[in-house]
Amino acid sequence: MDIPWVEKYRPTRLGDLIGNSQAIEEMRNWAKKWEQGIREKPLILVGKPGCGKSSAALALAREMGWGVIELNASDVRNESQIKRIALMGAINETFTDDGEYISTKHGGRKLIIFDEADNLYEGKDDRGGKKAIVETIKVAKQPIILIGNDYYGILSGTWGKKLKSMCKVIKFRALTPAQMTAVLARICKAEGIKCDKKVLHIIAKKASGDLRAAINDLQALAQGKKVLTMDDLEAVGGRDSRDEIYKAILVTLKSTHYEHAHEILKNVDETPDYLMLWLEENMPYEYKKHEDLVKAYEYLSRADVFLGRVYRRQQYSLWRSAVDLMAAVSIAKEKKYSNRRPYVFPSWLKQMSISKSKRDIRDSLGAKIGKIYHASSKRILEDVLPDFRVIYDNNMDLRALYTHILHLSSNEIAYLTDKKPEHVLKEAEKIKNKIEKGEGGSS
Ligand SMILES: Nc1ncnc2c1ncn2[C@@H]1O[C@H](COP(=O)(O)OP(=O)(O)OP(=O)(O)O)[C@@H](O)[C@H]1O
Ligand SMILES: [Mg+2]
Repeated sequence: MDIPWVEKYRPTRLGDLIGNSQAIEEMRNWAKKWEQGIREKPLILVGKPGCGKSSAALALAREMGWGVIELNASDVRNESQIKRIALMGAINETFTDDGEYISTKHGGRKLIIFDEADNLYEGKDDRGGKKAIVETIKVAKQPIILIGNDYYGILSGTWGKKLKSMCKVIKFRALTPAQMTAVLARICKAEGIKCDKKVLHIIAKKASGDLRAAINDLQALAQGKKVLTMDDLEAVGGRDSRDEIYKAILVTLKSTHYEHAHEILKNVDETPDYLMLWLEENMPYEYKKHEDLVKAYEYLSRADVFLGRVYRRQQYSLWRSAVDLMAAVSIAKEKKYSNRRPYVFPSWLKQMSISKSKRDIRDSLGAKIGKIYHASSKRILEDVLPDFRVIYDNNMDLRALYTHILHLSSNEIAYLTDKKPEHVLKEAEKIKNKIEKGEGGSS
């Protein structure tokens, strides 16, 4: 895999950013005032994920020739840490990137960026992240930018209100599909990929304003190709049961109660392999302690063993065991985290790539059987498919009848039994003829 295109094509100059031109202009004017010796209020950039906030802050520093001190969510966000790192650059004059002191007169400015500022702790004992930022701002001699997704996450609470009065908020809008399509087209051109505009538009729409997600999807789809068509896109399909999964992942990652996580995970009408992708994708955002993360991955990898068996032996009962283990991710952490960053969807292309053909067969089979059973697809797969396997292995008449009335394909038959599909189809043909002659179905 190449380097991620989101990094490869991250705009390095403000002029390269698409959309939000007014916000960017305000940032530029703000920076110019600093250059004129006016100590402007710190900025707070808020907006949905992937619309260019971090890129804008970094590009601004670059354009102004300023150095950068950047703190993001992976740094420990307690009071003493913030003070130590930020005050160093804020009160004192300037440091080079390797920590050497230079006075502002010689060294220019440093932009202090608190990225993902909505994850800041409000107060109490050692966790006064917002308080520390307020104190930093009071004494800062350097420009500061706070960035976050959640306006209220940053500005709520006692210290949040203080922040609000001390800073200037600049809102970033989510990008429109048209804006995103333009960026995607530019990337395709740079990569030498011929691509149908419609494909790009669909990718853009799916990403709902998150250009990072759109670029990731494009890269996954374009892997190893020089031409992208609607067929390529259709081959991966799409699905949406996001809200329900989101809630289940939220509970699992936030709660420290196994039962809570278990209850909600086992009731999601979605197969465990998806849930697993979601957990995998988002655990690192939540579990900041290395030991917690390692433990959580251990549970997932054990769950994965069960999933492997489910697919190899088609023992859907093992799904439950896999879900039991996934729920244990909740108790992998010692105590709750207060991350407020929204979780990310695993790229829908990634979601679709899970043993694609097998899933297709399983899903189409589930849908056909679902029509006569009126049950959720998950229930069909867990409870009804195993019965079908028994029938298909042992009862010729019923097997033939079902094959006929459900119009099963060879692949679908092969999914249910080791019997040769051609034989089963012949049996079905015979039943069909009998029914048409009015001789009745199974004996
Ligand atoms: N306005 C934009 N113009 C061009 N590229 C963009 C823009 N916004 C985002 N991108 C692309 O998406 C990637 C992610 O953008 P960025 O990190 O700036 O988003 P963000 O708003 O900070 O998101 P988050 O809130 O998730 O941190 C960039 O590396 C770039 O490739
Ligand atoms: Mg960012």
